[in-house]
Amino acid sequence: MAQTPQKRFTVNAAFFQEIKEDHQQLHDIMDQLRRLVDNKPALGNHVADLANLTEALRDQLAFHFALEEAYGYFEDAIGMAPWIHEKAGALRDQHGELFTQAQDLAELAADYLQRGDDDPAEVGERFVEFDRAFSEHESAEVALILNAMTQDVGAAD
Ligand SMILES: [Fe+2]
Repeated sequence: MAQTPQKRFTVNAAFFQEIKEDHQQLHDIMDQLRRLVDNKPALGNHVADLANLTEALRDQLAFHFALEEAYGYFEDAIGMAPWIHEKAGALRDQHGELFTQAQDLAELAADYLQRGDDDPAEVGERFVEFDRAFSEHESAEVALILNAMTQDVGAAD
């Protein structure tokens, strides 16, 4: 049926607003962290910022993942081709790993701040690793949604 794709990917306006705000917040935090970490010689002067931003990142991620899981495209994928279901499950499992990584990062930055260590290069390196893993995860999610939509539209013809 032609209506199925529209119905499946409709999100109510208030919920959509929340998703948009979450994305903006997450984008801002990641952007600030990237700029901070990129400037290696100055990083030692920004241990407090590093601690604050990684803490904000951890909290925003908890919200982000909860929102994504509530959003429902993972559940919607269950009625689709088995490979989509499998891929969606694997991506959802990555949320736990990524959150643990962000939690560890915030803890590490807080340790540096607490002991007055002004050489937090390790925190910077761990952030770069997190950034890579998280970006890969986000791209894979977008690719999956696009694939699922394409398949849906194809099936409706
Ligand atoms: Fe995700």
